[in-house]
Amino acid sequence: MIHEANRLKRLPPYLFTIVDNKKKEVMDKGVDVIDLSMGSPDQPAPKQSIEELCKQARIDGNQRYSRWNGEIETELRNTIADWYMKRFGVSLDPNNEIVPLIGSKEGIAHLSLAFLNNDDIALVPNPAYPVHFNGVIMAGGILYNIPLTPENNYMPKFDRLSAEVIKMAKLLFISYPHNPTTQVASLDYFQEVVDWAKKKDIIVGHDCAYSDIVFDGYKAPSFLQAKGAKDISVEFHTISKSYNMAGWRLGFCVGNKEILKTLAKTKSYIDFGIFRAIQCAAIKALSTADDTLKKTVETYRKRRDLFVDGLNSIGWKVSKPKATFYIWAHIPLKYSALNSMEFTNLLLEEAGVAVAPGTGFGEYGEGFVRFALVEGEERLKIALERLKDILELEP
Ligand SMILES: Cc1ncc(COP(=O)(O)O)c(C=O)c1O
Repeated sequence: MIHEANRLKRLPPYLFTIVDNKKKEVMDKGVDVIDLSMGSPDQPAPKQSIEELCKQARIDGNQRYSRWNGEIETELRNTIADWYMKRFGVSLDPNNEIVPLIGSKEGIAHLSLAFLNNDDIALVPNPAYPVHFNGVIMAGGILYNIPLTPENNYMPKFDRLSAEVIKMAKLLFISYPHNPTTQVASLDYFQEVVDWAKKKDIIVGHDCAYSDIVFDGYKAPSFLQAKGAKDISVEFHTISKSYNMAGWRLGFCVGNKEILKTLAKTKSYIDFGIFRAIQCAAIKALSTADDTLKKTVETYRKRRDLFVDGLNSIGWKVSKPKATFYIWAHIPLKYSALNSMEFTNLLLEEAGVAVAPGTGFGEYGEGFVRFALVEGEERLKIALERLKDILELEP
């Protein structure tokens, strides 16, 4: 018999796999599914990054293992430091305060592995991007969920936790702009978190995947802009969303050098870094592709306006997010007897529209579904028509 490790048995079912299987079933019946389920960007990667990848892939030396002190590796870290300074006005030491990642998901999972013993608590707001909590379980730490609800504005106050929990807490994950709720945070909120975590001696991992996908003049702060943040925290970034390079697998973690040293040590036992040609392509993206980013954000803004206005006009009341390319939508009252997975199935089977069930992001996502605006405007209009026909809500 083949038995998987107990830690895998403790993971919640990966609802996105279930949705994916269901999607395939519906597509196999010939339905043209409009897929708004996964946050996988559909817009093109920067041309110059693609050209650079092709050019660098032909160079023999680039086929070898990546090395921390190699020329390309050093240039990537320098480019990240420049990017960070330009975006957030925070200075980073390229040699000690930056660790490139094979996508930020990898780094987030490894942060838990690097720091959690089996009697350490990781505080994880819920709902969340699943690796925030699944990484804790895989690392064998103790997961402690902090509910994010409309009542707490999806921004919890951590000082309401019990003294026992705080004493055992070693790690806290937060993430703004937030997936899936789309909530954004102010620098003042980050400052409160830093001041509290410092007092309690808790490491903070801030997942900042959507800092560039912002609208209507809103600017997302970096966690490291808060005073003293570098003493206790690291921040995760990715080229997946800003530059439409999700499949390329490149992110980075920045901040406290001791935390990063331990993260890099953990990774050194597991991976060999990133294909050099991809590092070169990322350098191009980070240093020359602001125009691609601008176009990408404008496309998402138009989609957001079209889709949110459309949902409201068919009687599904949702508000416009300031950031991310998601819509976090309460299940309409008429369907409140259905849980988020059942409602997701209804939309898929009857309207051919795939969404993510709120519970895919944790139990406190119940009662919601998430739309990812990763199809073009014409497809979104068709999705709205289909939703209008099957839901029959009062406009
Ligand atoms: C909040 C958040 N963090 C991290 C990631 C993963 O990014 P990457 O492609 O860099 O692993 C995602 C992807 O959807 C995300 O939503």
